[in-house]
Amino acid sequence: MVLNDEDKARVRAVWGPVSKNAEAYGCEALLRMFLAHPTTKTYFPHFDLSSSSSDLKGHGKKVIDALTEAVNNLDDVAGALSKLSDLHAQKLRVDPVNFKTLGHCIEATIAVHNGPYKPEVLLSLDKFLCLISSVLHSRYR
Ligand code: HEM
Repeated sequence: MVLNDEDKARVRAVWGPVSKNAEAYGCEALLRMFLAHPTTKTYFPHFDLSSSSSDLKGHGKKVIDALTEAVNNLDDVAGALSKLSDLHAQKLRVDPVNFKTLGHCIEATIAVHNGPYKPEVLLSLDKFLCLISSVLHSRYR
């Protein structure tokens, strides 16, 4: 998945409010994922998954902060997320199909709070989240 310069500019613009409110966006996206795809809850047996728990807020912030790091390094997303790719592939063994699932939930959360967006903006955001998914998928053997 290759982002051109226009995609990169659009993703940076969309990400401004998201990075400033990482906890809220991350927490809501995780809640959407757990509600729409309950099997994803099995990866978090040690978390309190009730709405607005400190576990969800803390983890949601970590996820969005990691994506902010990716947005800040759009020319080398694989490098920026290298450690996370290893963690998810080798230690957590998350079924990679779930990366797309969470990506969609993140996109829905952003659109609900900041949309409606022009189609080309959504397309660029989609490309970015697909890139994240493929980078996190890349270390599976
Ligand atoms: C941990 C990011 C997708 C399951 C983490 C951490 C980050 C992160 C930053 C914390 C790493 C650390 O503490 O060093 C992401 C990103 C994703 C993604 C950017 C895709 C957009 C997923 C998905 C699942 C998942 C889809 C499962 C459905 C986990 C689990 C942990 C974790 C179980 C460990 C939580 C803990 O015990 O604290 N992830 N993640 N991740 N992730 Fe992901």
